Amino acid sequence: MKTSSERMKTFPDHFFAGLDSKIKEMHARGEEVIRLDVGSPDMPPADHIIEALSRSAGQADHHGYQSHIGPQALREAWAETYQRLYKVKLDPDSEILPLMGSKEGIFNLVMATIDPGDVVLIPDPGYLTYDGATRFAGGEPYYLPLLAENDYLPDLEEIPEQVIDKAKLVWLNYPHNPTGAVANLEYFTQVVSFARQHHLLLCHDAAYTQVTFDGYQAPSLLQIPGAKDIAVEFNTLSKSHNMAGWREGVAVGNRRALESLYALKTNIDSGQFLPIMDAATAALTGDQSWLIERNEIYRQRRDLIISALRSSGLRPRVPLGSLYIWCPVPPEFTAVSFVTMLLEYSGVSLTPGPIFGTNGEGFVRISLSAPTEHIEEAMQRMTHLMQKSGGQIG
Ligand SMILES: Cc1ncc(COP(=O)(O)O)c(C=O)c1O
Repeated sequence: MKTSSERMKTFPDHFFAGLDSKIKEMHARGEEVIRLDVGSPDMPPADHIIEALSRSAGQADHHGYQSHIGPQALREAWAETYQRLYKVKLDPDSEILPLMGSKEGIFNLVMATIDPGDVVLIPDPGYLTYDGATRFAGGEPYYLPLLAENDYLPDLEEIPEQVIDKAKLVWLNYPHNPTGAVANLEYFTQVVSFARQHHLLLCHDAAYTQVTFDGYQAPSLLQIPGAKDIAVEFNTLSKSHNMAGWREGVAVGNRRALESLYALKTNIDSGQFLPIMDAATAALTGDQSWLIERNEIYRQRRDLIISALRSSGLRPRVPLGSLYIWCPVPPEFTAVSFVTMLLEYSGVSLTPGPIFGTNGEGFVRISLSAPTEHIEEAMQRMTHLMQKSGGQIG
């Protein structure tokens, strides 16, 4: 009996599934593991969002199938949000498509636009779904190295002519997972003009634009005049409003690309649960001041981790946005051997950089999305282990 297509072989083993079972075994042995590997917000959404969910769920007629474009009020709420944050005007009827979390939209947009043999330009390191979707669609990934010396921004001049000729789509993601790097409007302007020149669909994954520190405000790619002609931006309430489990995302921008994505989605899924969409509307239109306090908590965690790592002789990058700290491992380790050592001897779980691409070798990603007291404990354990293993190991 055939139970898996050839196409399924394009997916690598999922790193976190393997890690989960290893951590389960450790728990079974009575070892307590502190997880700083995943980026799932540990704090709840604001009360008014949960109240909106509950109010809507109490309505007898809110439980049926929903349209793929969601309620008008939700699309208008996204339009108002883009206007408020970025002064970007979006048409709620043709330039905004609600998603079941941005991940499905990221995957499905590639499926809807890429043919076998088409090249997709993908940041390395980067979020794994860009690569997984490209391979699944039969496309060819071409990796854009993100290097510290270029502030983790792809150097577009370095892409060979024969690659550009076959390229159809380019991914960007700022604030960036896993490095925490940010991009300014000047860089976005360059990429928009590059994409226009080479007839590329430009996709910006803006998952972390509202998780920022030290007064930094991340821009939207759609702020660049004319970007909508060639670009789609993905957004989500997962990180911005602590709603990762709710699966509430959106694709905004180029209407022809959104039509393609919409056509694919009508064959795959249905609209989200109405109470979740009503609560998402409340999240976007209600009080936003709690995000400032929430970001301040992440900022304190960031500083706590940075100072602990520095005291062990490491040189972490200080991010202005995202949920992550990107840190080079000591030279005598690979990323995986460092992560394995920390997990086995201190019960602290980090993510090894290479799972995000070959340029992640030599780095680990540390997540800010664990309770502060867990982070404090994890840093104490790490510092203690490093001191035990011969003073500073950096
Ligand atoms: C860069 C990036 N994009 C997209 C997502 C997906 O977010 P969601 O599907 O929850 O909207 C994540 C989640 O970790 C991410 O890190």
